[in-house]
Amino acid sequence: MTTLGTRAPFITFEGGEGAGKTTQIRRLKARLEGLALACHLTREPGGTPGAELIRELILDGQRPPLDALTETLLFYAARANHLVDGIRPALLRGEWVLCDRFSDSTRVYQGVLGAVPRDTLELLEALVVAETKPDLTIILDIPTDIGIERATARRGAHHADRFESETHEFHEKLRQGFLELAREHPQRISVVSALGDEASVEFEIWKRVCERFSLPREKDV
Ligand code: TYD
Repeated sequence: MTTLGTRAPFITFEGGEGAGKTTQIRRLKARLEGLALACHLTREPGGTPGAELIRELILDGQRPPLDALTETLLFYAARANHLVDGIRPALLRGEWVLCDRFSDSTRVYQGVLGAVPRDTLELLEALVVAETKPDLTIILDIPTDIGIERATARRGAHHADRFESETHEFHEKLRQGFLELAREHPQRISVVSALGDEASVEFEIWKRVCERFSLPREKDV
């Protein structure tokens, strides 16, 4: 095991649209399981029945958008349930927790883009997350235009125009927000370029994880 004390490692994946987070988090799970390490793959908002209910409320595109503070409180409500019913029990069972988005998304989406004050976020973070901070956060970084292209291709031509024209500035701010967080937390956050093909991005992530947790890498040599 690792030298992190009594619980298993907690890894989060962050980044903007079109970077391939979901694919890469699955690939990391397969790598870890290849070393016979048990994994709990989860996501935010959501990850437990209670938090998935809150996810539906937040991401329901049919309703008028909520103000940023209300949305933030809902993200933290979902996170509280996810921690209590999902993440902490898995860590205590000795499973590596791999989470697709976590508090850094709130810091960037609601903090940077939604202008929710940093003090408010820190208060909620201390209350809800407390000691269950990620040991490692992988930010998948991609130049804004390429991320939009990839996300647009995934969504299909029907949504392409609106997505491209209305959201470029939003996505650029998102990218810069994540990169700024990485500069603030160099010990915890590792930025990986998502520009390469899936296999080479996977390999780079695996390298960082092995270094961080002192895992053997002889399979790749
Ligand atoms: P999802 O469909 O899971 O998107 P993605 O594939 O990009 O992860 O939707 C999650 C959305 O919620 C995404 O746009 C980011 C946003 N989000 C926040 O705004 N704040 C948060 O704290 C979290 C966890 C997600």
